[in-house]
Amino acid sequence: MPDLIKRKYFEFEEISSTNDLAARLVEKYKFPLVVTALRQTAGRGRRGRSWISQEGNLFTSLVFEAELKDLGQLVILSGLAVWRTIKFFAPNADVQIKWPNDVMINGAKISGILFERSVDNWWVMGVGINIVSAPEKGTMYPTCSLKSLGANVSRTDVLENLLAQFDDLYEQWRRCGFSEIKKSWLDKAYKQGKKVTVKQDDKSKEGILLEIDDNGGLILQTENGTERVLIGDVY
Ligand code: BTN
Repeated sequence: MPDLIKRKYFEFEEISSTNDLAARLVEKYKFPLVVTALRQTAGRGRRGRSWISQEGNLFTSLVFEAELKDLGQLVILSGLAVWRTIKFFAPNADVQIKWPNDVMINGAKISGILFERSVDNWWVMGVGINIVSAPEKGTMYPTCSLKSLGANVSRTDVLENLLAQFDDLYEQWRRCGFSEIKKSWLDKAYKQGKKVTVKQDDKSKEGILLEIDDNGGLILQTENGTERVLIGDVY
């Protein structure tokens, strides 16, 4: 497991959230690390939502150091890494990425990612992947799991693959920059060229999903011209 050698690795049976533990551990170690848990009692999703954490699914947080200016690009890269992992285990599935980094299969969500900051420039990238089950209630989208796609795989296999995909893309990004990553992300973008609504708290914006910019922002063609969106959920 060469990828794990570069990181400290922590596995728990039950914790509140792998993101919480990862943020605390990196304060102490100031070293890249990965935290996983069999169960989360208070799994968090984006924008204050909770992440229903059914045992058997993957709950993990990768911690790395990056400058704030690079975060938008790394958020996009993270979705691509999970896309590759899902495609590896379910090669026949029509896998897409919903901006910025939800992974979807035929409109059903299989994975979500939550970025949070710990100390200094240490970032926590929390990933949930539905492996054996998908929540049926309490979510904003239909959901699915690798098992529902016919892939019977272990959490360890999925985690190892995810770390390898992330490291590979990170290395590519470091050496060659964002343009290939962006192109690859756009190929897989959910609703590209189609009309979407982006909801932001009490506001929403409608437009054609055109592309992403070099900070990972979403570019929409709206009735007012092209507009850039940095936060929100695409419907
Ligand atoms: C989202 O789609 O809203 C993001 C979901 C992120 C869930 C993962 S599970 C592991 C890590 N720990 C958490 O509490 N959240 C992330």
